Amino acid sequence: MNMSNMVVRIGMSMWIALLLTAVAVPAESASASAALDNLIKAYDSESAARAQCVAFAQKADEEGYAKAASLFRASARSLEVRLQHFKRVISKMGGVPKADIPKVEARSTRENLELAMKEEADRNGALYPAFVKQAKEEGAKGAAKTFNGAMRIGTGRSALYGDALKRLEGMKGDAAEYYVCPVCGYLTDSGLFKKCLVCWTPRSKFEAIR
Ligand SMILES: [Fe+2]
Repeated sequence: MNMSNMVVRIGMSMWIALLLTAVAVPAESASASAALDNLIKAYDSESAARAQCVAFAQKADEEGYAKAASLFRASARSLEVRLQHFKRVISKMGGVPKADIPKVEARSTRENLELAMKEEADRNGALYPAFVKQAKEEGAKGAAKTFNGAMRIGTGRSALYGDALKRLEGMKGDAAEYYVCPVCGYLTDSGLFKKCLVCWTPRSKFEAIR
């Protein structure tokens, strides 16, 4: 295993773990609001996830997994929409979004899908529920809603990574079409819907990404 690659990967996972241990601690001063600090942490994490998706799409194309490349491109767009939500709420609360994106070194497409799925699980299964709880305790309704939205959309991305892993050989060949809601970032591989399942945006507004 390439050592620098391992360091980046361990670094990302450790970073999410560190966020989890920090969530219950009151903000130390970046702002008077722990919810705002957590929004900025989430913005940083999802910015890094987006950069990973862009690099993983390129790697999937190089390896001939065109459908996996489509999925990573669509995920990058989904994350971009979520980042816009974070940005708006952070600004509204008087904060400044910041992202320190680590250098991404893609490994095999299988490993990249596994890593993307694990990081979604860390965020949506542990980090965001804790952030939601804290935001509610603080009375920061906008922050709680934003974490809930990110959690719901991220869980959907994670399921698609899982499906791709189950049929990895089938992810070769032609590119696939994925659909992203430009309002909430909901991502689906099914063309059989009339409205966004999360925010009811009509299908005609969805972005088809290959
Ligand atoms: Fe939506």
